[in-house]
Amino acid sequence: MIKKTYNVVTFGCQMNERDSETIAGMLENMGYTYCPEFKEADVCVLNTCSVRENADKRFFGVLGQLKNPHEQNPGRITCVCGCMMQQQVHIDTLKAKYPWVDLVFGTHNLHEFPKLFANVAEQHEKIIDIWKDGTALAEDLPAKREYPFKAYVSIMQGCNNFCTYCIVPYTRGRERSRAPEKVLEEVKCLAAAGTKEIMLLGQNVNSYAGISDGSEGSPFYGKTGFAQLLKEIDKVEGIERIRFMTSHPKDLSDELIECFDSCSHLCRQIHLPVQAGSDRVLKRMNRHYDSAHYLQLIEKLRKACPDIAISTDIIVGFPGETEDDFMSTIELVSKVGYDSAFTFIYSVRHGTPAEKYEDQIPEEIKHDRFNRLLDVIHSIQEEKAKLYQDAVMPVLVEGVSKTNGSMLTGRTESNKVVDLPGDKTLIGQIVPVKITKAQTFSLYGEVYKGETNG
Ligand code: SAH
Ligand code: SF4
Ligand code: F3S
Repeated sequence: MIKKTYNVVTFGCQMNERDSETIAGMLENMGYTYCPEFKEADVCVLNTCSVRENADKRFFGVLGQLKNPHEQNPGRITCVCGCMMQQQVHIDTLKAKYPWVDLVFGTHNLHEFPKLFANVAEQHEKIIDIWKDGTALAEDLPAKREYPFKAYVSIMQGCNNFCTYCIVPYTRGRERSRAPEKVLEEVKCLAAAGTKEIMLLGQNVNSYAGISDGSEGSPFYGKTGFAQLLKEIDKVEGIERIRFMTSHPKDLSDELIECFDSCSHLCRQIHLPVQAGSDRVLKRMNRHYDSAHYLQLIEKLRKACPDIAISTDIIVGFPGETEDDFMSTIELVSKVGYDSAFTFIYSVRHGTPAEKYEDQIPEEIKHDRFNRLLDVIHSIQEEKAKLYQDAVMPVLVEGVSKTNGSMLTGRTESNKVVDLPGDKTLIGQIVPVKITKAQTFSLYGEVYKGETNG
């Protein structure tokens, strides 16, 4: 019998990528095999993101491409889940315009997917099942991980911060942390299976507050904070690199900053979204810090770890942003000297407070500011890239380069991509690499055979 096939198309952040690994794991447990082409798979799951209008549009574009495959093979099953589905407006659109969708579920009932899917597959029903709120986090779900040597570990779900531009608190619900023992157990299992790098995930990992499940021999008791969790994970044998995402500046504690000095496996890298440089805008964004506080954090981080690589997220064109406000962002960006920055044009999100703010910024001004900001960021990155020239650093080789099939690609501790020649047997290993060509957006290197203390 020919096995039925599946594909999962993922939009959005690492949390969604991690959820898609669970969905893929569930489908494999149900006997489906992976098909690399989503239009050809018997089952296609689209895991949506709603953080900006672009993400919404891209989803509808991909969903539209499934119309013909569905007409040619009415037996195929299309499922849609993720953050967009927590908003009624999108469910209404699906019902009205996309009759080839068979199953819709949300971010809070992902663990129910096998049950819902079985009903759709066996009874040929159409199901829409969305939960408004999250319950306790489901444990022990399967996962088909993308790489054997690096893995995402979700430590919490949801967000309580309600930044005024952001849809995430409405799509992911309130913060819920996994028990620290469960996180540690997952990391130990991954290490035993050969994983070298883990990325701890949460919308705001700094406010992790896991309650100990009291299991025997546990190093945790009562409520556990993020720094404490990190210190225990740092002791797991076999895990050579630890990263985490995302940190909110308002909750970045001194204890966590100190971990960059004391935890030997914590990568010297942090993603610390600033969003804006103007205190007036930060206040209207409801970020609960000002630029002086943010700069103080950067100073502390660099003191604890002088060569730490710092990246950020910035929004331009938030409602009411004046030219002066924007210049404060440029000023802050220059002061910090980011290793990389993800820049976004403000996008109105339905149901958020900022949707109702007056003085929305005209498109051409937003684009003009966006381009000016990019120029500043790129010139900083150009300078930073020079520091890599001829340096020798450990690189985790991740696979074949996407841009050049005869090269391998890997990542430095600072999370920069390096392309290098080499044998595929290097994939999954951490090797010393000498950077031979450092360009603004790409690094090239070769395996270093000399003495190294990296
Ligand atoms: N939890 C993370 C961010 C998740 S969303 C944090 O707080 O840091 C990722 C990024 O998308 C945000 O940092 C922000 O820069 C951007 N973003 C969120 N909502 C947006 C909107 N409405 N318009 C433009 N960018 C937005
Ligand atoms: Fe959105 Fe703010 Fe929460 Fe990040 S902290 S997910 S930007 S509301
Ligand atoms: Fe998008 Fe949801 Fe992540 S809105 S950014 S997929 S939490």
